[in-house]
Amino acid sequence: TDGQDLVVVANRLPVDVSVGEDGETTWTRSPGGLVTALAPVMAQADGAWVGWGGSPGLELEPFDVDGTRLVPVMLTSDEVERYYEGFSNDSLWPLYHDVIAPPTFHRQWWDAYQRVNRRFAQAAASQAAYGATVWVHDYQLQLVPAFLRELRPDLRIGYFHHIPFPPLEIFAQLPWRRQVVEGLLGADLVGFQRGGDASNFVRVVRRFTDLTTRGQVVTIGEGTDAQRHVRAAAFPISIDSTAFDTLARTPAVQQRAMEIRKELGDPEILLLGVDRLDYTKGIRHRIKAYGELLEDGRLSPTATTLVQVASPSRENVGAYQQLRDEVELLVGRINGDYGQVGHAPVQYLHQSFPMEEMAALYLAADVMLVTALRDGMNLVAKEYVAARSDDRGALVLSEFTGAADELQGAILVNPHDIAGTKDAITYAAHLDPRESRKRMRRLRRRVLSHDVRAWSEQFLAVLAAVPRSGE
Ligand code: G6P
Repeated sequence: TDGQDLVVVANRLPVDVSVGEDGETTWTRSPGGLVTALAPVMAQADGAWVGWGGSPGLELEPFDVDGTRLVPVMLTSDEVERYYEGFSNDSLWPLYHDVIAPPTFHRQWWDAYQRVNRRFAQAAASQAAYGATVWVHDYQLQLVPAFLRELRPDLRIGYFHHIPFPPLEIFAQLPWRRQVVEGLLGADLVGFQRGGDASNFVRVVRRFTDLTTRGQVVTIGEGTDAQRHVRAAAFPISIDSTAFDTLARTPAVQQRAMEIRKELGDPEILLLGVDRLDYTKGIRHRIKAYGELLEDGRLSPTATTLVQVASPSRENVGAYQQLRDEVELLVGRINGDYGQVGHAPVQYLHQSFPMEEMAALYLAADVMLVTALRDGMNLVAKEYVAARSDDRGALVLSEFTGAADELQGAILVNPHDIAGTKDAITYAAHLDPRESRKRMRRLRRRVLSHDVRAWSEQFLAVLAAVPRSGE
């Protein structure tokens, strides 16, 4: 064939690639919600995935993994610093997450962002068949839709934004706000997690371009022939719910869940947090609330354990290094003050674990704590629910996540409100089994019926229906 009919473009490939001293190429699954969501979609679709292999300077030819063609894009170490660590994760990430941390703007980072976005667009253009669909993902690649349209006007271009799209007043801080909006408008369909993100985007379009909008549709060009429409809409992302459900039903995982509780000294109440170590996740707020509950005696320090999995993330960015220090100080204090020989009230794990171990942890936990200060969706909340085929457990969930819009049955909290968070944790920890089962059944109905396959099918169906120029 002359190229692929579906091309996914994301900053990361679904695997991190490295070359050992013996010259052998090895790969491991890469981190984060985007890859978690897209990997099962691509395994079915038989398309190509354009992305970075995760190591600076590594030039690789396209290769196949599980029927997906992976097309590596090379980043120099200078580009990793300026485009990835700098502009993507020290300018855009904090800006788009309610400026929880102060964003830094540098013109050299912006230059690298443009250059790298152009390279991704070229790689996608060279993979796509005539008239193919290209699906671009996330904040690292907001200029790709427009660059790609310039190179290949025949393509149908979709873009999905996995993280929040901020209110106009915050987005306005970005020195290159107009260029970013114009980059996104290269797409036929711009998808977001929540309705609120889509309307923030439309407001930004109205403020920083001269284009006309009608509802969530932006019209580009004048006269009936030159017109093109860009649609903005919400498509809440999900997980491969059945895979988690099935995994959690296997004897090996159930056995491991019991073993985990035993290894922790059979606590009466096992609380669990699972996050990338990121300041948007509210890890400090959560641990502070927990520490106070121990201090107040509302939770017993000997009969309670909090397992906090904090997987390493973006370790070269200053704000992440600072967060790690703060979290580790806090954990050390609580364990120092309330621990005993043989029992630490916080089990802190700065590691990533395979899916089987995660499923066992979810099954072992009485209460799952998702207290993000801002999160596009939060797939950990959905994984926990999908794993609870026993209809037990409770989910404490921040209002500031996309998941909160959908997951009725969760116990919602404002993570900034420490007193309210403490009440919610106490309530969840002592939930009456009938009430807890009722809530979990409701949660499971939602997560099992809206899985990631349904999400991608919906997005691609709406994309396929957007009228093209002249249609
Ligand atoms: C979030 C973002 C993804 C990103 C992931 C992991 O889920 O939406 O785009 O891939 O975090 O972060 P990293 O910087 O390691 O790719």
